[in-house]
Amino acid sequence: MSEHETSSETLGEPTRRDFLYLATGMAGVVGAGAAAWPFIDQMRPDASTLALASIEVDVSSLQPGMSLTAKWRGKPVFIRNRTDKEVEDAKAVALEELKDPVARNANLAPEAEATDLDRSAGEGKENWIVMIGSCTHLGCVPLGQAGDFGGWFCPCHGSHYDTAGRIRKGPAPENLPVPTFSFVSDTVIKIG
Ligand code: FES
Repeated sequence: MSEHETSSETLGEPTRRDFLYLATGMAGVVGAGAAAWPFIDQMRPDASTLALASIEVDVSSLQPGMSLTAKWRGKPVFIRNRTDKEVEDAKAVALEELKDPVARNANLAPEAEATDLDRSAGEGKENWIVMIGSCTHLGCVPLGQAGDFGGWFCPCHGSHYDTAGRIRKGPAPENLPVPTFSFVSDTVIKIG
């Protein structure tokens, strides 16, 4: 360090070295700004990701008693057009008999009860049930129209779900979750 620089700093005047630091610092800021844009742009979901955020499923071919499995966000989603008997069987169950009395329906308040209506697509569409097909025990995919309650059965460790997808027997702690969905027409269900 030269004597000249020392005296300049003492006087509070910027030295040539300070100036160089300042100039470098500013270049750094500009550089960081320019680099930040493409980074933020990459974080924005592209069209294919947005498409996966919600899907539309045509259920026109599902007669009562038929179901299909859609894939949404990497998970199976069971859509079933329940028979009148399946709806009646589920309605006949008192809430006190349920292992999990909570609806687990993303379309309703978190505290909604697991009545058959609140597990289904609702008034006038009670025959329809839409659920994520992932056992609430450890995530296996349950089998449809199986088990002691005629709903779904998970063979991994023996969890039985009824015709409203409510856990009735076995190690699974919760009802199969109902995702956000709506009917965009009489025959098309939008999930997500
Ligand atoms: S994962 Fe379904 S019973 Fe264990």
